[in-house]
Amino acid sequence: MIYLDNAATSFPKPDPVFRAMDAFARTSAANPGRSAHRRAVEAEAMIDETRRLLARLFGCARPERVVFTMNATDALNMAIKGVLKRGDHAVTTVLEHNSVSRPLNRLERDGYITLTRLPADSGHRIDPGDVERAIVPKTRLVALTQASNVTGTIQPVAEIGKLVRGRGALLLVDASQSAGLVPIHVERDAIDLLAFTGHKSLLGPTGTGGLVVGERVEIEAWREGGTGGDSSSPVQPSEFPHRLEGGTPNVFGIAGLREGVKIILEQGVESILRHERRLLSTFHAALKDPGRFNWYGADSAITERCGEGRVGLVGINLPGFTPAELAAILDEQFDIAVRPGLHCAPYAHRHQGTFPQGTVRLSVGFLTTEEEVRAAAVAFDEIAAE
Ligand SMILES: Cc1ncc(COP(=O)(O)O)c(C=O)c1O
Repeated sequence: MIYLDNAATSFPKPDPVFRAMDAFARTSAANPGRSAHRRAVEAEAMIDETRRLLARLFGCARPERVVFTMNATDALNMAIKGVLKRGDHAVTTVLEHNSVSRPLNRLERDGYITLTRLPADSGHRIDPGDVERAIVPKTRLVALTQASNVTGTIQPVAEIGKLVRGRGALLLVDASQSAGLVPIHVERDAIDLLAFTGHKSLLGPTGTGGLVVGERVEIEAWREGGTGGDSSSPVQPSEFPHRLEGGTPNVFGIAGLREGVKIILEQGVESILRHERRLLSTFHAALKDPGRFNWYGADSAITERCGEGRVGLVGINLPGFTPAELAAILDEQFDIAVRPGLHCAPYAHRHQGTFPQGTVRLSVGFLTTEEEVRAAAVAFDEIAAE
């Protein structure tokens, strides 16, 4: 199989990730912090080490502010619903995944908040000036994706962060498609809340993710319960990470995630991103006639700028085929996995004119090879020649 669906979840995972999960499950799988015996202490130490590694990766000086969640959706809901109060205004963009849009839309529909949704330009970028102009005295939160899972473009987060901070609002960044690929420094980039998922470019298993919570953020617990710490308190403890970490964490998953993050820190995000951009260029260059496909602006970025400003995904269509048909042919006849449709981001597809059918998204990953993308190009050519 040629797996080109890494934006959905990375596959395969590096061997150390599988090995760590297996070893941890067999030898040290206790409930962290819940008991004083050695295995529980070991589990807690593993989780704390993973927290420290993630804090290093994201430029966060206080590891306890890295809170584990089930995935990015969990982290985004925790941030949005934990921070916004009745009567607040929030700013978001057309490039958001439903895990940002839906919680905000519901709060707006229920009359709890007011919401401004900013457009993107023809290069699929959010103008920092638009963000600044949208902020009013009641704006508490600006929520935006760092890299769209539809267009692949990377947003000027540091620039936006400075403007948002200057206007006294909080910045929530959805790093689902950028964590592990794009340099992130929450303090330098003025990111107040960073939501990430563990199972994409951080190379961990599904069921892992987290939220980095900055010092300026006042956040209510979204999920309350046991923390393994002080059980006598009648309410959720206020200190981090316990404030947001009620319930037993995904210990096996975090054991795998730890290995993924170690690999990323060793390799460096820049080199991984270069690898992914190179693969997109190889795919484009290997096609006999790339002009047969609709690229939604990505082709010139790939050919003229070596994929600069993008992560390793691209949405394309082949006239005469719906995205679902093209993906089914790739799967059934060529054993190539891609993702067709709207990618849980309907506003982004409306923005680029591909709603309601969407596109076929190809997304490469850390372990994708040149041979695989060349073979995929041959398959695309064959289908186009039919
Ligand atoms: C931009 C973006 N945000 C959020 C998510 C949600 O991630 P998860 O499914 O891990 O919650 C995704 C996943 O596809 C995504 O691409």
